[in-house]
Amino acid sequence: MIRPQRNRYRNYLELDGLWRFRADPDDVGETEGWANGVDTWLDVAVPGSWNEQLAEAGLMNYTGAAWLFRDVFVPETYADQKLILRFGSADFRAIVWANGAAVGESNLPYMPFECDVTGHAIPGETLRVAVKVTNLFDYDWITPAISSEDFERENRLKDEVFPATRPDFFPYGGLHRPVKLLALPKRPITAWEIETDIQDGAGKVVVRTHAEGGDGVSLVLKRRGETVAQARLAPLSGVANLIVDAPDLWSPDCPALYELTAFLEEDGEIVDAVSQLVGIRTIKVVGASLLLNGERIFLRGFGKHEDAPISGRALNLPFLVKDFGLMRWINANSFRTSHYPYAEEMLDYADRHGFLVVSELASVNLDFRIADEQTLANHKRALEAQIARDRNHPCVIMWCLANEPGYLGEAEYNEENAGLYWDALTQKARDLDKTRPLTTANVQYAGVDDPAFSRVDVIGLNRYHGWYNAPGQIERGAEMVRKELDVLHRNHAKPIIMFEFGADALHGEHSTTDQLFTEEYQENFLAAYCDLLENHPACVGEHVWNFADFRTSQHFRRVVLNRKGVFTRDRRPKRAAFMLRDRWGNLKKEGR
Ligand code: GCU
Repeated sequence: MIRPQRNRYRNYLELDGLWRFRADPDDVGETEGWANGVDTWLDVAVPGSWNEQLAEAGLMNYTGAAWLFRDVFVPETYADQKLILRFGSADFRAIVWANGAAVGESNLPYMPFECDVTGHAIPGETLRVAVKVTNLFDYDWITPAISSEDFERENRLKDEVFPATRPDFFPYGGLHRPVKLLALPKRPITAWEIETDIQDGAGKVVVRTHAEGGDGVSLVLKRRGETVAQARLAPLSGVANLIVDAPDLWSPDCPALYELTAFLEEDGEIVDAVSQLVGIRTIKVVGASLLLNGERIFLRGFGKHEDAPISGRALNLPFLVKDFGLMRWINANSFRTSHYPYAEEMLDYADRHGFLVVSELASVNLDFRIADEQTLANHKRALEAQIARDRNHPCVIMWCLANEPGYLGEAEYNEENAGLYWDALTQKARDLDKTRPLTTANVQYAGVDDPAFSRVDVIGLNRYHGWYNAPGQIERGAEMVRKELDVLHRNHAKPIIMFEFGADALHGEHSTTDQLFTEEYQENFLAAYCDLLENHPACVGEHVWNFADFRTSQHFRRVVLNRKGVFTRDRRPKRAAFMLRDRWGNLKKEGR
């Protein structure tokens, strides 16, 4: 996938700002012709979730269809170009109209999609954009739907959350990432795959380019403005290898970036160009170790959420900058995009500042009582889209295929069903990207016989012994974890990452004894786990759950928010933040 960019051949307009909004709770908008506009509306900010912005208009807990409208004047300079409406995401699915004509749709939450509006968008005239967004999952989606009736039918009345959803995070709805009108050459470059390797001390950048036209492509690789390698492919098909002697390798300590540019040629003329920052690095699993550029690494960091007051799940650049600043302050070197692909701007920043990212698919709580062939097909589709979007980022070091599959500990999550499921999905991932290891985040209830463990390269665990069980008993909880780690290390000679461990702490709540919900309990809980993980031979990472308090659906176990953050929702540190900063600062000094 090509990122929006401006150069002699390409341009774009940004459509962020105030859009017109109208909820469609009876889903009548399509039949009533809302695609041509409506006569009453509310203002909503894009990017933005509608929920908190429009809470006073009754939309805080709204899940269903909603329409967003925006008019844009198309510059005359866009004449004779391919015009594309590009959405960074629409959650969870969308249909798009241009001047009343349907031009595209998406049913992949948290992922970008493009609608060709050439012929609808007339340079020198106004384009009317209408988008119907629906923040409801389907039952065969990779995060399955659930309703209040389901909780009743399954006799899980005490588990019911409002709005009804399976994952432990709020089902925000909206256009959560930037919207752009792209102006491209008629037959542009459409995608490229960039892989890097290190051979005999030299860097190798392997490039495959795709375009709708052209009879050749020239590639130029630069470091700080100086050309270090070039290649040409005519015709385009095939692979170009760019060799860099004495390369500056990409790593957290030195996130060296090169600029790769592809020039598309047609009949001897350049007709398009695209650029991308490239980091030369390798990531490999060797035995129970995780190696970056041949050196063992230990992941210090967090499971996060895209969550902020008022803007909800939307890209919020001040919070993005603040979060990276706090991760640098606390001496973290990595995070997992729990539980869905994050904004591309987040990965760009991680590339530039040397953070390691585990890219997680939008699959939470797969329920193998209902997972079927369509679920697997949807999982493969989501995997393909996410790899296409994220594969060229050096910061992305691993694909996490699912969070807490088999979350109910259901008997159907077994070798026979789930084994085949993971065989198919991991094979698909390896067919698409041979350069990155695969993992999942195992739920405590699925235990140490998770069918995914024999299919993935890195074993990922979420554990809360001492919180959800053995409450108030940190040492007993840590001992339970140690026993599981030893079993897994004996059964699978693979690296293990603790993707989640944590305790809710109400900021300002204190105790001299081990008391749930106090800052001391959170600090002591995390320290006990970290002591264990940092000294276990198979453990290559510790990601605390969570970076910051975040909104969930309503439930009596959630005091408005999930309070497991090491920072509050407005990013104030709790006691544990200072403990982690010292601890991880020492690991950093030791080169771990
Ligand atoms: C699970 C889940 C998280 C959730 C956490 C918790 O492990 O993966 O999404 O927030 O537990 O209960 O705090």
